[in-house]
Amino acid sequence: MKATVNAAAKAACFLRSGVSYNKQEIVRAIEHQAKLLLAEGNLAKTKEYIQHSDMSVFQHCVHVAYISCLLCVKLKLDVSWDELIRAALLHDYFLYDWHDGPPFNFKHAFGHPTFAARNAARDYKLTAKEIQIIKRHMWPLTVVPPTCREGWIVVLADKICTLLEVARKERVRL
Ligand SMILES: [Fe+2]
Ligand SMILES: [Fe+2]
Repeated sequence: MKATVNAAAKAACFLRSGVSYNKQEIVRAIEHQAKLLLAEGNLAKTKEYIQHSDMSVFQHCVHVAYISCLLCVKLKLDVSWDELIRAALLHDYFLYDWHDGPPFNFKHAFGHPTFAARNAARDYKLTAKEIQIIKRHMWPLTVVPPTCREGWIVVLADKICTLLEVARKERVRL
């Protein structure tokens, strides 16, 4: 049966636009959403796979959620916080070790946003916006750009996080 985390998470999101949250408050909001997603579906499996350096896919997704929220707070953006955080936490929900394969894993690089969106839609009850954010997070590799603010934020945050993680300078871990 498909998880019902969407409704529960919506009722419980406590970040608001136009408020200057500190790191602890943002982390608490991400922890809350992560807990809901971990209780259902297969998000815990992303802890088994490495993304960059010694960061698991799960920690990378937490990092992307954190940098996404930080960008929205700093830029005073009005966004849908629950959708932003959940999509960021699921954006690399492809559920395999991408290091298994050729040195430049073409199939993974171009295909994983679609695999992640398909898996996430199978395991969780997601909004159309959340699915779009996941599916288009690798823009410009995924040719079609996002059409929502949250999608652009995740595109940017994912690239910032990759650079920070490769340099072993990540800003947060749960
Ligand atoms: Fe990705
Ligand atoms: Fe990513």
